[in-house]
Amino acid sequence: MKSTYAPLLETFSLKSGVELKNRIVMAPMTNFSSNDDGTVTEAEVAYYARRAEGVAAVITACTYVTPNGKGFPGEFGADRDEMIPSLARLASAIQEKGAKAILQIFHGGRMVPPNLVDGDVVSASNVPAEAEGSAVPRELSAAEVENIIAAFGETTRRAIEAGYDGVEIHGANGYLIQQFFSPHSNRRTDKWGERLAFPLAVVDTVKKAAEKADRPFAVGYRFSPEEPETPGITMADTLELIDALKEKELDYLHVSLMEFWSEPRRGVDDTRTRLEIIKERAGNTIPVIGVGSIYKADDAIKALGTGVDLLAIGRGLIIEPDWVQKVENGQEETIAVKIDKNAQEKLVVPDPLWNAIVNTPGWFPGV
Ligand SMILES: Cc1cc2nc3c(=O)[nH]c(=O)nc-3n(C[C@H](O)[C@H](O)[C@H](O)COP(=O)(O)O)c2cc1C
Repeated sequence: MKSTYAPLLETFSLKSGVELKNRIVMAPMTNFSSNDDGTVTEAEVAYYARRAEGVAAVITACTYVTPNGKGFPGEFGADRDEMIPSLARLASAIQEKGAKAILQIFHGGRMVPPNLVDGDVVSASNVPAEAEGSAVPRELSAAEVENIIAAFGETTRRAIEAGYDGVEIHGANGYLIQQFFSPHSNRRTDKWGERLAFPLAVVDTVKKAAEKADRPFAVGYRFSPEEPETPGITMADTLELIDALKEKELDYLHVSLMEFWSEPRRGVDDTRTRLEIIKERAGNTIPVIGVGSIYKADDAIKALGTGVDLLAIGRGLIIEPDWVQKVENGQEETIAVKIDKNAQEKLVVPDPLWNAIVNTPGWFPGV
């Protein structure tokens, strides 16, 4: 390994006691490849295993905590105990390769395709997303809200039973948890209209379930720092969310971005990047994972230089499953940075994900 890149390979201890062998984690990425009954397929297990050798942890694709939270065709499920063997199959495949396994837990809210939920699309309020053709969701009753919060706790229990090293609460990318935090989608007048109430109740419930683990078990939280809509989440809102999450003894905050160096749209008078502002606010209380268009070792070392604690790599690990090993072996010059469209088999990518990649221009470098 070249000494320039040594900081990428330093160990890191999370508050829960989970030990990370380096600073690189696999970003959560939906792969559309699970069975219709919510169990994982061998093709997707092989895809994860192929990428689990170098990274410190694999954060799985999101998994639904209740049936009406299923956001994608071919999404795997964690909504009932029958799913535990399938969840365990994935956890052990990741751990056998040396990475920690972190289950990303989720509810799609108003973003779920109606055909996946018998047409019963739900959210904080009956406000559709702005994209044309979006379904008008049904406002959840207070009792249903409580049930979904409890389901996040139950899914955490299943993650423990299935052998995971932690869970990541998916509070990003416009899904249900973010919908409760957003002034666009949450117009409620009951106690859940207080926009922090639902995200924090989910955190408390998940933490309570995590405390029952008989081994170190991490709880992270992922959020998107801003929304483009008006009204919508601003950087000022996000700083408030961070202040509240700092009180919760979480293992990490994970910022969801497509571009690591992106700058705030509104809500702060600050010319620094979103991640720099977020890291400053998080301070030394809670580690921050940065992400977004990191492909080369130089991109990663520059990103780590901002002070973020850990880096997630998504597309880069699909393109180059041996990313970390190449840095370890001083072969970082040979890291692939564009998808090789003829290499599906070599890259071990299941058909549904591969087809989505090669048929979506601009999504991945090389397409
Ligand atoms: C195929 C694909 C699926 C994704 N699915 C998820 C997901 O399930 N949960 C999530 O939080 N983010 C998801 N993301 C976002 C990634 O975690 C990540 O933030 C984004 O791709 C930017 O990182 P990258 O440039 O390293 O790919 C997905 C991204 C891609 C490319």
